[in-house]
Amino acid sequence: MRAVALVLAGWPVLFATSAEAQFTPGSPGAGDPFFPKSGNGGYQVDRYELRLEYRPGRRRLEARATLDATATQDLSSFYVDYEGPRIRRVRVDGQRSSFERSSQELLVTPPVGIANATRFELVVSYRGRPRPLSDPDGSKEGWFATDDGSLVVAEPRGAPTWYPANDHPTDKASFLFRIRVPRGVEAVANGRLRSRTRVPGGLVEWVWKVDEPMATYLATVATGQFKLRRSKVNGIRSITAVDPRLWKRSKRVLRKSDRILSVLERLFGPYPFSQTGAIVDRASFLGYALETQTRPVYDRPPSDVLIAHELAHQWFGDSVSLTTWPEIWLNEGFATWAEWRWEQQDGGPTTAQTFAQLRETPADRNGFWNPPPAALPGPEKLFSDPVYVRGAMALEALRQQIGEPAFLATLREWTAANAYGNVTIAQFIALAESKSGQELDGLFDAWLYQPGKP
Ligand code: TRP
Ligand code: ZN
Repeated sequence: MRAVALVLAGWPVLFATSAEAQFTPGSPGAGDPFFPKSGNGGYQVDRYELRLEYRPGRRRLEARATLDATATQDLSSFYVDYEGPRIRRVRVDGQRSSFERSSQELLVTPPVGIANATRFELVVSYRGRPRPLSDPDGSKEGWFATDDGSLVVAEPRGAPTWYPANDHPTDKASFLFRIRVPRGVEAVANGRLRSRTRVPGGLVEWVWKVDEPMATYLATVATGQFKLRRSKVNGIRSITAVDPRLWKRSKRVLRKSDRILSVLERLFGPYPFSQTGAIVDRASFLGYALETQTRPVYDRPPSDVLIAHELAHQWFGDSVSLTTWPEIWLNEGFATWAEWRWEQQDGGPTTAQTFAQLRETPADRNGFWNPPPAALPGPEKLFSDPVYVRGAMALEALRQQIGEPAFLATLREWTAANAYGNVTIAQFIALAESKSGQELDGLFDAWLYQPGKP
């Protein structure tokens, strides 16, 4: 290969004076160890505007996604993560651009290169029937049709099933959703409801806006029949959207959100977003809930413990986000510990009692103790039990080791210093050590990294 490069060396030299010659394609991945093709190199997205028109009966989405981005290198072309319906047109800064699709990537080549540090606008128009994808662990995610509309849950890599994205939590952006549905159908997304207007064609346009930075997997849209309720929950503006068939079984537990949020705020510091709420849909085929930003999705009427879990994720996962997927303990361990503490505040067992009981689990219960929560062998173990339960035990072990004041000081500084940012486990360990004045490598190594019962 070297010889070929030398033979052709005359050409690049000829063009070396023109800046264009240094323009190269962006990378098709962000380098995540579990999902090497998720995210992309060469640019960052500042804002997504998703215009969607969805007709539940036909399961058909007609969409135009606008991405405001900034180049981080001189780009001759760039990749976007996309696995959605057929693309009709791609424009960069208003200019028709050529594109190529291959499995999860969309390669866009604008007519002229994009210089490093400049802003550009990508517009992708597409339409058809979105389909969810399957994960290494056998679960499904992305855009789902429901019996009366649609629902999105997209962790870890379902976002590209319904919009083109730089699909990695290290690239957060603001979001604006403009969703058109037939009159009589509701359309709910993250953030605040800015307007709801009748538009031609017998449609209603719902505009939802997320001001705080949001990771792509946390974006959601639900369409169908929903009973919407506005309120203030612990002083925070809230909108809940509940499938009318589930209203009776949901309303009482949803009212507990108020107390749950106040318990969590006392533990973790101020709630990080300007909106809260819930989407409760009839979608038990999913088998899980998701902490979609500001408005978690529940696939059935939730329990108060599950609400505590998803609301805790607003701090741990949504505001303070992963840098790489193998460090998912930073999300699930914390949300599970929050469940235990909510139960304690609600008159149930203390976190210490929950811990003591789980500690009795025999060492040969392999699926309980292995894999260690921060040494996952692969993406199929991302949502395995040890990440949640042994992961929460790790935090309780920390609390018992350094004491409640230092433990809570660590959590509060963690959420405050890293709000809307990205973090690593090493940073958490360092913070816990500095807040407690103790050397904690042994504790974290035993609980997070070593196989078998600690
Ligand atoms: N993060 C979700 C929660 O704990 C769970 C989740 C997301 C999940 N995707 C999944 C669980 C896939 C199992 C399989 O609230
Ligand atoms: Zn969770």
